[in-house]
Formats: sequence, structure tokens, C-alpha cells
Amino acid sequence: MIFGACYYPEHWEKSEWRKHAKLMREAGFNIIRAGDFAWGIMEPKEDEFDFFLLEEAVNTLAEEGIQTVLCTPTAAPPKWLVNKYDILQRDRYGRRENWGSRREGCANSKDYQRRSVLIAEKMAEHFSRNQNVIAWQVDNEFGCHISTRCYCENCRKEFSKWLEKKYGTIENLNKTWGTVFWSLQYDSFDDIILPVYNSCEPEHEQLWSHNPSLDLEYRRFASDSWVKYQKLQADAIRKYTDKPITHNFMGHFSDIDYYNLAKDLDFVSWDNYPDNQWGSSEYAYVSMAHETMRGLKNKNFIVVEEQSGPCGWDIMGATPEPGQLRLWTYQALAHGGGGIMYFRFKALPYGMEQYWYGILDHDGIPRRRYYEIQKTAGELKQLEPYIVGRKNQYDALIVKTYDNVWAHEIKRHAGEFNYAGLLYSYYKANARLNINTAVSIGSYEDYKVVYMPGYNVVDLKEIEKIAEYVKNGGTLVTTFRSGTRDGYNNIFTSTLPCAFAELAGIEVEEFSAIRKTAYIAGIVESKANIWCDVIKPVTAEVLCTYTNHYFKDKAAVTVNSYGRGKVYYIGCDLEEPAMEKLVDYISSRAGIERTAAPAGVEFIKREGFGILLNYNDYAVHIPMKGKSLLNGGDFTGNLERYGVEFISWDNEENTCNMIQNI
Ligand code: GLA
Ligand code: ZN
Repeated sequence: MIFGACYYPEHWEKSEWRKHAKLMREAGFNIIRAGDFAWGIMEPKEDEFDFFLLEEAVNTLAEEGIQTVLCTPTAAPPKWLVNKYDILQRDRYGRRENWGSRREGCANSKDYQRRSVLIAEKMAEHFSRNQNVIAWQVDNEFGCHISTRCYCENCRKEFSKWLEKKYGTIENLNKTWGTVFWSLQYDSFDDIILPVYNSCEPEHEQLWSHNPSLDLEYRRFASDSWVKYQKLQADAIRKYTDKPITHNFMGHFSDIDYYNLAKDLDFVSWDNYPDNQWGSSEYAYVSMAHETMRGLKNKNFIVVEEQSGPCGWDIMGATPEPGQLRLWTYQALAHGGGGIMYFRFKALPYGMEQYWYGILDHDGIPRRRYYEIQKTAGELKQLEPYIVGRKNQYDALIVKTYDNVWAHEIKRHAGEFNYAGLLYSYYKANARLNINTAVSIGSYEDYKVVYMPGYNVVDLKEIEKIAEYVKNGGTLVTTFRSGTRDGYNNIFTSTLPCAFAELAGIEVEEFSAIRKTAYIAGIVESKANIWCDVIKPVTAEVLCTYTNHYFKDKAAVTVNSYGRGKVYYIGCDLEEPAMEKLVDYISSRAGIERTAAPAGVEFIKREGFGILLNYNDYAVHIPMKGKSLLNGGDFTGNLERYGVEFISWDNEENTCNMIQNI
């Protein structure tokens, strides 16, 4: 199993490499990831390539049994490159980004593309002969801390070509986008504008000021631009080697269509920092990020950057407490991780990321965090068969599409509305009930319940697929603001909820963004604070009604029988306890086993065994029987603070007795 750290040989004296490699070996590491950002070392002057230093490091580490994942360095273009070529992005105000950090390049700059492909190709040619390089990473975190959307003239020209290919004629585009509104007709594709700052924007960075079709198409185009930029490099690498290629994704980050970005890669990797300068994440939020990454290819992923120390840029997040690094490692592996690498091996005394601590502090002395990782490595030797190539038994699916992320950002419906938050509220309720929940698209038949919250921009093929799934006995859950827009971000003119009306067996007669709290009662009681649909059941049965306002007694939540399946329509936002109750109600009727565990404890089911993770900073007792795969003995039911257990059971009956079923 891949187990290691991010290591930057160019940051250290050569004389230290072996010492570091020994410490790595003793920690149980077998791999490093290197090369990202080292363009200045590998091509110090245009066309002068020098891989000597990196190769020497790769070989020195290999002598201690440490192999390498090599990254192309293109996230950090050197000064000579920006001096000679205009590759820098432009923002919405037409301002040029400044060099001096990283990631400033425009994906559509021909010069940036050409220089990136060349360095990738030269690296691949050189290192294809080195057996210690076992995989490749293209670039680093597309979109991290700078927009993926550039507003330069290159991008505008490429965008008009992209549109011409899609729409054929400008008349077709004008008609589809409704440019007749405010006389925004284009005479030719050359006229196409980018959604830059305009007169409708009173404040900075308001992103709703354009025609919504233009806005959505530009986001799709910008995403495609990075997918293409990545592919240029991946193809260059593949000319010389057949070693697997990845890119490091960013979990919940949504400015690029990650399903598309993953298609050209052999495996997905991602970078996980649960507690940093910008805050600490709830455990379910991190679990959902892991599942989002697994769902991109429905395959094991690798965490290539896992937090291993306190981290931040000018201030720091909390230092991981004893047990947390081990816990986070198992959390990743329990949610589809097939290997892990920590960021970074040793903290650097200089540069912007002085405060991004790693396994070792600036003095390089192994202490608590090092020993905890070492202990985890030891355990993993034995647990590997339960991790690599293994899959959870998923009962539920949350459908996340990037079109919907973008469409909801462009037209947010109501001040407090947030698509990511809506998806998370459904994920979290499932997590609290310990239902293994995937985050992905397609293959609905694999799940007992499919959630499509806020599925606003509709792909009609998906509606056909989901209808088929329900007909055959599946359960679909959808919500307010679903089904209402076509693929061009225009609103359907059929009665709400348009694409879901027949499936849900309802009509939405009225709706409102909420100014005065609405209340609902029925199978659950809750306040609604963001949105309410006032539902007229056609064939559906009413499960909850509103209890105040002019729509008192009207339906808020319904269920419809469709073929052999059920469609639930949730017309308003719910508070957390109500959401949990609702998910419990739906899951029980769909035949999903839910298991109660103390708050802050996660239980993940795999065939024949389960994984318990205690995120609490106190010990808990769980009345569960089984064998501990960690120590071979009977599980006592005690889980220490930040504790982990792998528990196997002999028969199905035991499974059900493990934790009291709800
Ligand atoms: C990202 C990058 C790393 C490093 C960390 C910390 O995850 O991939 O290179 O910069 O953030 O900021
Ligand atoms: Zn650009």
C-alpha cells in the first residue's frame, strides 16, 4: 500500500537526503511525491533542462526503499517564462495577475501550454528510464487560490470557438440564450464577450450580472480548458511511459467538473487538511469530501497530501492532537482511500509556507506526530487486505453535478440558499445514521435510495434513467428548486417542478423565499428558513403540511408511488434533527439498515467487517460484539478518544446485534 510523504529534495542540502530517507524508512514509508513547483530547478533557462538534482534524490531515496511519484512543476512558472511570454491570467476587471506566488498561468495561453507540454515531455523522457518513479502527477491543484476562470483575450477567442462548435450558428445561440432581452444580440461569434465586470455589478465579485446562459457556458468552458490543459500534459507523459497518471484534486472544490477531469487520469488523488488556518471541518464534511473523490471514478483514490501538523499561511490552525493523525488516516481509508501520503515531511524555514508544518518541525527531530504515523504504518501492514481494492457496501447515493453547482451560484434563488450546504445536509443525516453513502452520478440501480437535492439544471437523459430506476423499485428523493432549468440555464415553461412533476405526482402552485419562518408538521416537524414550495398533490400522498402563513395546511413534503418505486419531494429546507428523522423514515421504508452510534462516532460497513471511528476527544462505549482486526482479540466495546477499530463478525446475525439498530 502506498504510504509516504511529500518531499521536496530541492529544499534541503543534499547531505540531508539520506538522513531523511532513513527516517522515512523507519516510519514505514515506501514513497514520496516530488517535483511539484520545481520548474526553476529543472529548466533554469529556456530550453536548458537539468534533471540531475531530482534524479540523484530519487535514487538516494530508492536506496532506502523509497519510491517516487513525480509531478510536473507547471503550477509554478519561473520568472524567465513570464518575462518572455504573456501567460498571466486576467481577472474580471481586466487586471493582469501578478507573478510572485504560483498558479498564475492561463490554461488557454498557447505559450503556457507549449512550455508546460515541453517540460512534461522532457521529464517523462528522462525519468521513464528510472524504475524508481512509479507514478506521475500532472501539475498541482488546478484552481487553488486563484480563479479557474480567466478573462484574457486568448480565453475569449477560445470561448467563441467553443460556442461555435456547440451552437453552429450565431442565430441559434441568440435564440437559445434569449439575447433579445436588453438588445444583447451578437452579430457573429467574434462578438462574444466573457462575463466580465459590468454595469449591473454594484459590488465586487457579484457573479449574477450577465445572461445566465452565458455565465453557465463560460463556467463549462473554463472547466473544459483545464481538462484540456491537463490532457496535453498527460498525453505528453504517455508518449514515454505507461506508469499511472494522476492529479491532486481538492475535495469539495467545485470550479472544475471533476468527473471530466478524472476521465483522462488513471486514478484520482486529493489533498486533505481537516483543520487549518481557515477553520476546522466537521467529520462528516471530511467524509463527504473523501466520498466525492471516490465517486469520480467509483474507485479507490490516494490522499497525496494529508495534514500532518499545524498549518496555515499567516496564522495556524490547531496542532493535531494525539490520535488525530491516525484517526484521519483511517477515515480516508474507510471512505475509499487506497493509500496515503502526508504533507509535508519536514517544515521549511523559508518561503510562504513556513507555517505549513509537517511530520517533522523545523528542527527535524522525530516527536509525537512522527511516532504516531510510524505506529499507524505498522498497523496498516496487517490491515492492508481490508483496505486496498476494497469497497464499502453503499446503500444511498447523493447526486452531485457541477452544472448544478454553477447554476446555483449564478442564480441563488434565495439569500441563504447554498447547493453545497443542501447536499451536505442530506449527507450528514445519512452519516449520523451510519448509512454508507456515495457521492457521484449515474448507476442509480446500485443504490436503495438516490438523493437529487436541488437538481436544478436538468439533463433529460438522466431524468429518463432515474424514472426507469424508480419504475423498477428504486427510491428517489428530490427537493425544491429541482427540475426547473434546461441545459442552457433557461427556465422550463411547464408547471413546477417541471422535469420532476410526473415522477413526484405533484404541482407546485406557489413558492417563496422565506422572510418569515414557516413551520411544517407531519412525519417530521421543522422550521423552514430558506425556501418553501406550496405543493398540490396530483397522485402523491402528503407527508407534511405547513402550519402557518397563508399556505397553512398545504403540502410541504409528499411521496408518490411510481411504478414499483417511490418518489419523495421535499418542498422546503429542514433543520438538522428533522432532516435526520426524514432520512431515517425514508431509509427504513427502502429497507436500509441504520445503526445508532454515539454522537461523533462513525461506523462504516464492508463485507464481513466494519470500521469504527471515534472523532470525540473522550472515550465512548459501544455495545458491539466482534473480533478486533487490530489486535486479534474480542472487541471490548471501548473506543478511546480519537480511537479506531476494525471489527469482523462471523455471521449476519452478529452484524445486526452489533450496535442497537434504530
Ligand atoms: C496545497 C498544495 C501544497 C501546499 C498546501 C498548503 O494543498 O498542493 O503544495 O501549498 O496546499 O498550502
Ligand atoms: Zn486566459
